Amino acid sequence: MKLYKQYWEENIAQWGELYLDISHGHEKFSGPVWYSSAYHASIGRLERKLMAQRYEITKAFIDQYVKPGTTFSDLGCGTGIFTVQALQKGAKVNAIDFSKSALEITQRNVLKYAPEGEILFQQADVQADELPESDISLAMGLTPYLTDLPAFMQHVLPKTKLLYCLFIDPSHWANRLRGLLPFLNVRGLRCHAKSQVDKLYAQHGWRLVQRRVFATGYIDLATKN
Ligand SMILES: C[S@@+](CC[C@H](N)C(=O)[O-])C[C@H]1O[C@@H](n2cnc3c(N)ncnc32)[C@H](O)[C@@H]1O
Repeated sequence: MKLYKQYWEENIAQWGELYLDISHGHEKFSGPVWYSSAYHASIGRLERKLMAQRYEITKAFIDQYVKPGTTFSDLGCGTGIFTVQALQKGAKVNAIDFSKSALEITQRNVLKYAPEGEILFQQADVQADELPESDISLAMGLTPYLTDLPAFMQHVLPKTKLLYCLFIDPSHWANRLRGLLPFLNVRGLRCHAKSQVDKLYAQHGWRLVQRRVFATGYIDLATKN
């Protein structure tokens, strides 16, 4: 847990650049320097394209569902890109991340792009700490890094009404390959089978509203029964 938190403390400032389609080359991976460069020049290019799509999909979700006064929890807010979007739509936002640097960057972006917004910053581990109540929770790019999905669901679902969440699918060929060749899994991404996720929704009295395939995973919209 410590190591993976440290990864985000060191890399989150550059993470936002993925959305801007500029160099992803600052991200530090463990292993030889040449490997990071080779990765950024090959798979990294494709990742940048997918990040741009992910941004558009998430923005469209926020545009459709967030209304003035909606309480919105941005779980693993990172650089705050979606926190800012939700604030601009008039939401009251809980920006939550376990990384202090992520929250500082989010705060800077909020001051710059949505200074009038109503926001609460919370440094919390979404798998272990109590979370605030919200109408909508967003977990974009978060579950691939979690170590305990059931604990995450247990902390999030009772506190929110709607969840928009990205998962990585273990049955996708690229993730099977990552499993066979672990050096390709530079960020140590974790996969979650649809059956496991569906079971967790059911255990908490939730249901799936929509599931769309995205990149090597899927994005769920789920709600309370
Ligand atoms: C890939 S970034 C995604 C940031 C943002 N949601 C986005 O889509 O741009 C993942 C973020 O989740 C945070 N994170 C990872 N595990 C976490 C945990 N257990 N509790 C809280 N935040 C976590 C990291 O610190 C990082 O800021």
